[in-house]
Amino acid sequence: MSSWNEYSTENKDRFLEELLGLLRIPSVSADSKYKEDVARCAEAVKEHLLKAGCDTAEVCPTAGHPIVYGEKIVDAKLPTVLVYGHYDVQPADPLELWHSGPFEPVIKDGKIYARGACDDKGQMFMHIKALETMVKTGNVPCNVKVMIEGEEEVGSVNLGKFLQDNKERLKADIVLVSDTSMISMEHPSIESGLRGLSYMEVEVTGPNRDLHSGVYGGAVANPATILCKLIASMHDENNHITVPGFYNKVQELSAAERKAINDAPFDLDEYKKDLQVGDVWGEKDYTTLERTGIRPTLEVNGIWGGYTGEGAKTVLPSKAYAKISMRLVPHQVSDEISGLFAKHFESIAPASVKVKVTAHHGGEPVVTPTDSPAYQAAAKAIKTTFGKDPIPTRGGGSIPIIALFERTLGLKTVLLGFGLDNDNIHSPNEKYDVANYFKGIETIPYFHKYFAESFGGNGMGI
Ligand code: BES
Ligand code: MN
Ligand code: MN
Repeated sequence: MSSWNEYSTENKDRFLEELLGLLRIPSVSADSKYKEDVARCAEAVKEHLLKAGCDTAEVCPTAGHPIVYGEKIVDAKLPTVLVYGHYDVQPADPLELWHSGPFEPVIKDGKIYARGACDDKGQMFMHIKALETMVKTGNVPCNVKVMIEGEEEVGSVNLGKFLQDNKERLKADIVLVSDTSMISMEHPSIESGLRGLSYMEVEVTGPNRDLHSGVYGGAVANPATILCKLIASMHDENNHITVPGFYNKVQELSAAERKAINDAPFDLDEYKKDLQVGDVWGEKDYTTLERTGIRPTLEVNGIWGGYTGEGAKTVLPSKAYAKISMRLVPHQVSDEISGLFAKHFESIAPASVKVKVTAHHGGEPVVTPTDSPAYQAAAKAIKTTFGKDPIPTRGGGSIPIIALFERTLGLKTVLLGFGLDNDNIHSPNEKYDVANYFKGIETIPYFHKYFAESFGGNGMGI
């Protein structure tokens, strides 16, 4: 029996090649054009689970894209880890900004470039390779259940029902997820919370048809102008959000909690340089780390209307639109915030336009405890493979299903992410460092070992 490290080192090239194979499948969940590819990707994940040594693995159909589920049960007396990840990816556009094809992965300077390289195929696949490593070396410290969904990037709309319908099958002691980021390889960290989300779409209608902007302009409200004014009014001069009631449930953190967040290594100049911005922006009296970690935000994700084609067309558009999302922090409730937003947006619209507000998917914020045996097992695993204690951080992104794991299955989650903030997730030239991929594969088995030990076992599957 070789050790975990020996096995994964011996199989390094294949582990990488197999990931590249998955990255070649354009499993874009948002675009129905890719439905067959998404299904093909689910099949591929199932095959990988079987090859890794799962007792069973299956593709479970849903009303949307399928969920892949597999398990390796070693002994009913051992604790059980439920691994969650997603095999679907964000759309790849704008295509012209990619240096190589989004679904033709290339390795350059130690980085894998492809859509989904980090979010989340690369990170999810580390668990499958870690499982293979544990099984093939005859050292599986915990029972392992693996659930990989195909709709995370479109709001996990069918996963809630799957959890409800499969409560028995999904019984576990902890959920383990690699779909977040760490500060850097030099400063490993573990996210101890995620923000929630409310996602709205607004439509502003002015006149009943597009008008000549010379004949009518200046006399009829331009819905694009009005939309910009409405959006601009949603932050005050301190960049606080002006939606009434928005902050009602937001709790101020204690000075000690804020200090802990700001103690994390962060270089503002580097941050600005990386993004090529002259300055940062945000809510007054909060630092950048606080603005992205513990404060709620309101952002325009897209705005359109009128003529956007080549050249100039003089037109006063009939309609203008925007997609607006709000990131939520603990105690804010997605549906409530969506309701407050809709009410406010309707109330500030002038009589010269009509507005329509619709809510897209949302999700609740989560905080994961850092004093739990599961978090400690993750911290010890990081310490083992990085030689450093991880820094707890609060992540800015959202994984809406995490709140449902607790609500439906009564399970807490550990966010053992190996991505980096500059991995360009959801953006052109998404990448994942080869080193992070292998570090993840190396670290994950130790999580299982230390988690089993926290239950009193010896971490050797006995
Ligand atoms: N993996 C991300 C979330 C994430 C990224 C968390 C980086 C922490 C650090 C996930 O796939 C994602 O993109 N979530 C969406 C929400 C979802 C409902 C589309 C998000 O955060 O915008
Ligand atoms: Mn993700
Ligand atoms: Mn994502």
